[in-house]
Amino acid sequence: MRAVVIEGTDGIASLLLREVPTPQPQGEQILVKVHAAGLNRSELLQARGLYPAPPGAPQNIPGLEFAGEIVATGNNCTGPAQVGDRVFGIVGGGGLAEYVLTHERLAVPIPANLDFTQAGAVPEAFITAHDALIHQGGLKPGQTVLIHSAGGGVGLAAVQLAHAMGCQVFGTSRTAAKLERARLLGLDHPIDISPDQEPFQEAIQQETGGRGVDLVIDFLGGVYWSRNVACLKSQGRLVVVGLLAGAHAEIDLRTLMSKRLHVVGTVLRSRPLEEKILATQAFASTVLPWLAQGTVRPVLDSVYPFEQIQQAAQHMELNRSFGKIVLTP
Ligand SMILES: NC(=O)c1ccc[n+]([C@@H]2O[C@H](COP(=O)([O-])OP(=O)(O)OC[C@H]3O[C@@H](n4cnc5c(N)ncnc54)[C@H](OP(=O)(O)O)[C@@H]3O)[C@@H](O)[C@H]2O)c1
Repeated sequence: MRAVVIEGTDGIASLLLREVPTPQPQGEQILVKVHAAGLNRSELLQARGLYPAPPGAPQNIPGLEFAGEIVATGNNCTGPAQVGDRVFGIVGGGGLAEYVLTHERLAVPIPANLDFTQAGAVPEAFITAHDALIHQGGLKPGQTVLIHSAGGGVGLAAVQLAHAMGCQVFGTSRTAAKLERARLLGLDHPIDISPDQEPFQEAIQQETGGRGVDLVIDFLGGVYWSRNVACLKSQGRLVVVGLLAGAHAEIDLRTLMSKRLHVVGTVLRSRPLEEKILATQAFASTVLPWLAQGTVRPVLDSVYPFEQIQQAAQHMELNRSFGKIVLTP
């Protein structure tokens, strides 16, 4: 089969299309013929030698998600997934290939209203966003939430989910046009964080009457840490999902104590199988019906064939995408 492989640590230049053996399902695994697969920031990191695949996942074939059709099942599969079913889901690696192996309980039926390309834009963004908002962040209907990178793949999923829950949604981006587009998907309070703009914590304090928000979903880290803390109300929660602006931050621990804040870090990729299944099943029971009804929807920035993996990765690295970049075999 054809697969994107990582050869070396030269970044995007290390992402190459190669012929590799087609895997065979064992035990509770299923084999999925991939029709579309979202691109993620992890591919950019892994191609620089920075984010190795977890044990058990293909080590040199990147790709954290897939949408496709089941073509074979292992001898211990108990269903309900059957050969021919349209399914999507997350994997620890191997999604950017013509065929991917996954555990049968990590594959979720694709709603009938989504084609494969749209479905390829769903799993990583919506499972991450749902888990971060609800399970890590404890968001409740009617609360206030600040979502950074609100024009990104995960950010836009989080904006839509929080909006569907009846929350007040604040969101940031360095690109004004992305904020305008995100408004149409449920972003109530767009905040431009370009370098020439006012610090965002002031806008938040102004718009919440000095109370701050219940929850911050952070993809940035770095210098944004102390600003995030300043945005939170007493007993607020900060969920660290990404570190696009840096892995190190200066913390005034007194503020954590006096505001009685909760800080949670999260990562999906390296979770044990059972925890990934739990996150997937939680997504399936809550978000799948919303996708099927059109309450939330995949946001597709662009579609590239596998042959153009380097162009797709470049597009992401230049921060030009709004929503998800999807690759097709
Ligand atoms: N923990 C997990 O399990 C998990 C799962 C999925 C993703 N993630 C992480 O979550 C983050 C977002 O993923 P994504 O798929 O939504 O990415 P994405 O679609 O590429 O969007 C990220 C956006 O963030 C903004 N950005 C990039 N660098 C920035 C910086 N230095 N300062 C401020 N803004 C910056 C850019 O938009 P503007 O420049 O227009 O603002 C960019 O388009 C990534 O770090 C990813 O690795 C974590």
